[in-house]
Order: sequence, then C-alpha cells, then structure tokens
Amino acid sequence: MIISIRIMILLSVIGAFSVGCSNKSDPQPLAATCDVKMPPPAPPSEFCLTEAPLNPLAPAGIFQDPAYMSSADGQRMMECFAWETFIAYNWPAEPGCRGIPDTTAQLDATQKLSVLDTFKATYELFQPTNKDWDARSIAWEDPVPDTGSCGSPVVENASSAAPSMNQIVYQKSPAFLKNTSVIADQNGETVVYTVTINQDQFEYIRQNGFAEPKAYSFAGPSSTTTKVNFPANADSTTGYGSAELKTAWRVLSDDSECDSYVCRTAKVYDEDDSDCSEEILGLVGLHIARKVDYSPKWIWATFEHVNNTPPVDISDDDDTSYSFYSQSCAATVPDDCYSVAVAASPAEADYTCCANILMEVAFLGSPNQLTRLEPIPALADMNEMFQGVLAAHDSVLQNYFLVGAQWAKPDVPGTDAYDRPCNPNGAWRVPEPSDGTACYTQFPAHVRNAVIEGYNIANNTDGGQSLTDSCMNCHWATGIDGSFIWLSVMNDIYELD
Ligand code: HEC
Repeated sequence: MIISIRIMILLSVIGAFSVGCSNKSDPQPLAATCDVKMPPPAPPSEFCLTEAPLNPLAPAGIFQDPAYMSSADGQRMMECFAWETFIAYNWPAEPGCRGIPDTTAQLDATQKLSVLDTFKATYELFQPTNKDWDARSIAWEDPVPDTGSCGSPVVENASSAAPSMNQIVYQKSPAFLKNTSVIADQNGETVVYTVTINQDQFEYIRQNGFAEPKAYSFAGPSSTTTKVNFPANADSTTGYGSAELKTAWRVLSDDSECDSYVCRTAKVYDEDDSDCSEEILGLVGLHIARKVDYSPKWIWATFEHVNNTPPVDISDDDDTSYSFYSQSCAATVPDDCYSVAVAASPAEADYTCCANILMEVAFLGSPNQLTRLEPIPALADMNEMFQGVLAAHDSVLQNYFLVGAQWAKPDVPGTDAYDRPCNPNGAWRVPEPSDGTACYTQFPAHVRNAVIEGYNIANNTDGGQSLTDSCMNCHWATGIDGSFIWLSVMNDIYELD
C-alpha cells in the first residue's frame, strides 16, 4: 500500500513587495540586478590550529596533498576546510546575486538570506517530465522561477526571525527511499530536504548537456561518449570547484525557536494536491560535498544542530529537550528492539521508542527516536573553537557542529589509488581489493548525519546497533562521479509548468 506524504516547498524573499512593518524582513530581489562579480576563493585551508577564521569566502581547497600526511594531520586539514566552507556558505548573501557573499556583512544575531540560500535548486536546471525543457538556456544568474503549482516563490509577511527562502523544499526522503523512509521529529513533523548545487557544478552539467530531459535517467547521463568528471577548483569556472549540498529542516510551530536555529519561512508543497502551505523551518542538518584539487573523491562534510540527538554517553540528568529523542521514551524502551527492527509491521508503540527504526508510512505523524550510536568523529577542539568564535558574534551558527568530514587517503602515495576503497563498508559495499591492488582509505570509516541517514545502521541480533555505512562508500558505490544528483532529480520532481 502506498500512502503519500506531504512534500514541502520552501520559497524565498525575492519579491519586490513592500514591507510596512518593522519586524518584517527586507525584501531581497534575487538575481534581478547583480552587478557584483564572484570574488576569487580564499587561500586553501591549513589546519585551524589556533584560530577559527570567519571568512566570507570559501577556501579554494586544501593546501597539501593528504596522501603525504599522517591521517591525523589529514583529518585536521579536512575539518578546518569543512568549517571554513560552512561559514562561507552561511555568510549573508550579496543581495540580488547568486552564490556570492556580501563581504561587507557580518555574522551576527540577524537572520539573513545566506549564500547557500542562493545556490541553484536542482529543479531550476532539471525538469525531467518536460520534454521541451531547454536546460542549456538556463543561466546561473536567472532568478528563481515563479511558475509551478505554488506560484511566486515569495512568502510575504515573513518575520525577520525567519526570512523567506528563495527555493522550494520538495524532498521528503532522508536518503533515497522516498515515501518509504521518512524522518520525523518529536512533534511528529516530517523533516524536509533540499538539494542544491553551486555555480561550477551547475555550469559543468548544463554545458555538457547532462540536464537535457532526454539525456539522463535515474542512473545518470546516458551518453556513452562523455564520462562525467566534475571539475575541481583549478579547472572550474569560478575557481571554487564543484559543490553539492543537501539541507534538512524541522517544521517549527512559530518563530520563537529562531534564536537558536537558522530559520526560514517556507511554502510547503503537497505532492498529492499540488498545493502549498506556509511553514517556518529550522535547519537541523547540512551535507556539503566539495570536489577540490588533491581530493578527487570529494570531501564529504556534514553538520547537525546541537539539539538533534544526545551524545552516545548521555547522562541521566541531561534534561535537554532534543528534537529527535525523548528521554522518557528511552526509559521504557521495549526489551526486544531487534524484532521490531526486522518486523514487517511493528506495532506503533514499539516503533516510536526503539531507536533508529525505519518509519512505517502508516505511522506518519509519530516521532522518531534517533540516537548517535558512536562518538562524534570530528575533533572536539575544532568544534569548540568555531562555536566559540560564532558565540562571540552572537550568531545562531554557534548551535551547529561538524559531525565529520570524510576524505580519501591513498595507501601508496603517488600512485593512482583512487579506484577503490581499502576499507569498503555499508550495504552497497564493493568487494575488498585483492592483495597488491592500490586502494584508498576512507577517513573516518563511518560518518552519518542522524537526521538524514538516520536508518543507515546495522541492527545486530543481540539488539545492539552500529554504524556500518559512510558518505563516500555509498556515493562511490553507485553514484556518478560520486554524485546522486540525477537520482535525486528523478525521485523528487517539482514541475515548473
Ligand atoms: C546509503 C547511501 C548514502 C549514504 C550513506 C549517504 N548518502 Fe548522500 N545521498 C544518497 C542518495 C541516494 C542521494 C540522492 C537522493 C536524495 O537527494 O535524497 C544523496 C544525496 C546527497 C547529496 C545531494 C547531492 C546528490 O549527490 O544527490 C549530498 C550533498 C549528499 N548526499 C552528501 C552526503 C554526505 C556528506 C553523507 C555522509 C554524511 C552522505 N551523503 C551519506 C545516498 C547516501
């Protein structure tokens, strides 16, 4: 039985409507009049040893080949790069422009449209159901289109605590299972997602004809002559290299939580009746994948909000109100969660208290109990250093942390070891390399964003659970040059006509 769920849509302040009330956000016409050129990137990241730089420009890449470093040094360099990118992408955007930070703005307590709000939503470039769609004629600077079943992508009367976004949140699937795997917070509200790309990835896809409606399927471009190879920074249009993002949002009841969340007002798209409702959303998860020189397997960073789930070693007197975990539920957890995990149809009461159990569509509206399972792989001092600087600026970004930044280290420096992982993991694992085959190690071995890959875990017969998968393993096992963009656009379609 297929029961459909709501798809949600986020839209942004791009209209030229007038705002009479001082607590309303200023309208920001998007891409109507951008006369600012994309500034070149910041110098490559080093190690963030003693300071957490707040730079509006993302780093060009990493400054040394991690093949020749210890894994500890490599990890520090990648995490420094991940945090610097997070800051730059969350920097207030240059009004009217796309992907360009306002370098005169500061990070402070004000909620403003940020650079990542202005990246290209996939539906702006891909319209798989429209056979006449001419993707080559789409320009990076084009404003977000205001056609489609939700009309103009503007939420009027958005509060300044939650300015309106400029793109549609049309994804409801945590990873890839669409209707069958939905994550809900403790209020039973479904988490919603967006997938966006930066200018370098956009130009590469567009110019190669990889977004023309007949040129691709779920499995990527159908061309047998052109192999997809997304540009890293040195050979890209802007010097930043390809980037793709996935954002995850909770539906908030009002804007009172916006002093601790990146908040946006949104229109919510219901796939069944092709209609929209307006919601206030709080950012709970953010995936950032960037392809840069020295890291052809991309760098896979993921961030979460501090109140998503407790740490693995939650103390008995922790009374934090977690969005995806209930302490009272944990006290009455059923004895046999393994049976619940593998049952065809678990009872609703069991399923809501057993941790990390795949949501039954019949129980939509019930909360998920999500746990972290392993200590956070990212360096604690790196997170504390950046959070401290962000707190000093009174920015809501202080409430986010880096879960991990996964990268590839070749086992034999100087060889082309990037064909396969030495330590494959996850459900779609490729076989281990035979002796003597050059390979790369995935560091850290496991990375999971609890509110995106909540169910990507193993249920062990003794009732325990463990992390088994990782960003790189899954994306490289079946993705196209590591990307699932084509699968994503075929799965979650938002039609503009
Ligand atoms: C079990 C497989 C799996 C794992 C593990 C996984 N992903 Fe994905 N990811 C997908 C699929 C499938 C999509 C496309 C469908 C969608 O967007 O929902 C996707 C989408 C994305 C996107 C949007 C762009 C794109 O390629 O479609 C980003 C960015 C991303 N993932 C990053 C990550 C990061 C970072 C991690 C690790 C923290 C991760 N993923 C873990 C399967 C996975």
